[in-house]
Amino acid sequence: MKNLPILLLLCVAACSAYPLDRSARDEDSNMDLLQDYLEKYYDLGKEMRQYVRRKDSGPIVKKIQEMQKFLGLKVTGKLDSDTVEVMHKSRCGVPDVGHFTTFPGMPKWSKTHLTYRIVNYTEDLPRDAVDSDVEKALKIWEEVTPLTFSRIYEGEADIMITFAVREHGDFFPFDGPGKVLAHAYPPGPGVNGDAHFDDDEHWTKDASGINFLLVAAHELGHSLGLYHSTNTEALMYPLYNTLKGPARVRLSQDDVTGIQSLYGPPPASPDSPVEPREPEPPAPGTLAMCDPALSFDAISTLRGEILFFKDRHFWRKTFRTLVPEFHPISSFWPSLPSGIDAAYEVTSRDSVFIFKGNKFWAIRGNEEQAGYPRGIHTLGFPPTVRKIDAAIFDKEKQKTYFFVEDKYWRFDEKRQSMEPGYPKQIAEDFPGIDSKLDAAFESFGFFYFFSGSSQFEFDPNAKKVTHVLKSNSWFNC
Ligand SMILES: *[C@@H]1O[C@H](CO)[C@@H](O)[C@H](O)[C@H]1NC(C)=O
Ligand SMILES: [Zn+2]
Ligand SMILES: [Zn+2]
Repeated sequence: MKNLPILLLLCVAACSAYPLDRSARDEDSNMDLLQDYLEKYYDLGKEMRQYVRRKDSGPIVKKIQEMQKFLGLKVTGKLDSDTVEVMHKSRCGVPDVGHFTTFPGMPKWSKTHLTYRIVNYTEDLPRDAVDSDVEKALKIWEEVTPLTFSRIYEGEADIMITFAVREHGDFFPFDGPGKVLAHAYPPGPGVNGDAHFDDDEHWTKDASGINFLLVAAHELGHSLGLYHSTNTEALMYPLYNTLKGPARVRLSQDDVTGIQSLYGPPPASPDSPVEPREPEPPAPGTLAMCDPALSFDAISTLRGEILFFKDRHFWRKTFRTLVPEFHPISSFWPSLPSGIDAAYEVTSRDSVFIFKGNKFWAIRGNEEQAGYPRGIHTLGFPPTVRKIDAAIFDKEKQKTYFFVEDKYWRFDEKRQSMEPGYPKQIAEDFPGIDSKLDAAFESFGFFYFFSGSSQFEFDPNAKKVTHVLKSNSWFNC
């Protein structure tokens, strides 16, 4: 304890002399940072340099406001601490305002099939990890557009992907570790469409360093023609660290709207009932959800939300919002199949089980659980059962009902075994439910059964149908 006072004294001497000096230096470096940031990302002309030091000059205040507004900060027009903090964050090197290239307008690819080439690699990640992340990142965009991609190994691809440090042959040298992570060029010939990643970053598969998949998905959005979004939830928001880890690599509605405004929605899948000669299919998620003929593949609750699965997508209905969100399944759970058969949530295990054919998968929130898919016969179904139509978990009894054709089985979730005495006839125990089921879920003690565009609300205690509704009645159309 003898040393303590001395340390304190030293500190008083050193610390009290320091602040003035330091704040002056901070002020200086903040002004340099501001000038650099506004020039790089907010189209501040070089002729404006003289004004930057006079922070209160009109044009600079306006630029600061523009930046604060874009990045979702409080618009003060002043270089406050939040603003300084944001300027230190890792981000994409593409400007937020103004054009990255001299090409005016909204460039987009005039073809739907594009090639890409991974020209070289970082040493931070195994090559196959980079390969698979690039593939995943492209798939995220492919899901919601008519665009398709194929990889080439030599020659000039539409999208050339490189890792480089500092000066690397364009007018935008990288800046060493931190700050600028990558940049990409909008569609067009030559360098356009290309994506460059700063190899002075520490690229990782997880969130411990800079997550490569996340940055790649963002940069490829530029390669396809998207600019930055002011929506902090969007993949195209310019700052890196508001997006947390690989679980978050998915498009927001803002990204989907953006990319579909350039390329439109994906073509209807071959097994969909839309006739090829009919007018344009409605934009997924918006018009389709209010189609009175809408049916679902499967429905499940997930942590208080309801997920309505259809082909490659699902609607996500929360009780907070009136209009459901619409997402590709793969943007949350890349290994899940499309066109699933059944899904149910076991709330006590915080798990959702997803069925397709004779396999099932388990997810927890937006994570896929290890050890899946498993065969449905491990649950105790006889070999004659090839697929499940619908499933419901009864929270109260901790039992799951599996519906297959006109029969149902009951599974004890506590004992993890199929109950004896099944299958039974659906129509006998669920009077009023006599058509083949597509989907089912439980909410507030009621069972909701879906068959085509009809929905039956069933009271399991009274053992009767209490309402007949349209399948999409949950969407407030
Ligand atoms: C990758 O290729 C680019 C363009 O040819 C070059 O500038 C860069 O230095 C290369 N990077 C590595 C890590 O070899
Ligand atoms: Zn960007
Ligand atoms: Zn570059």
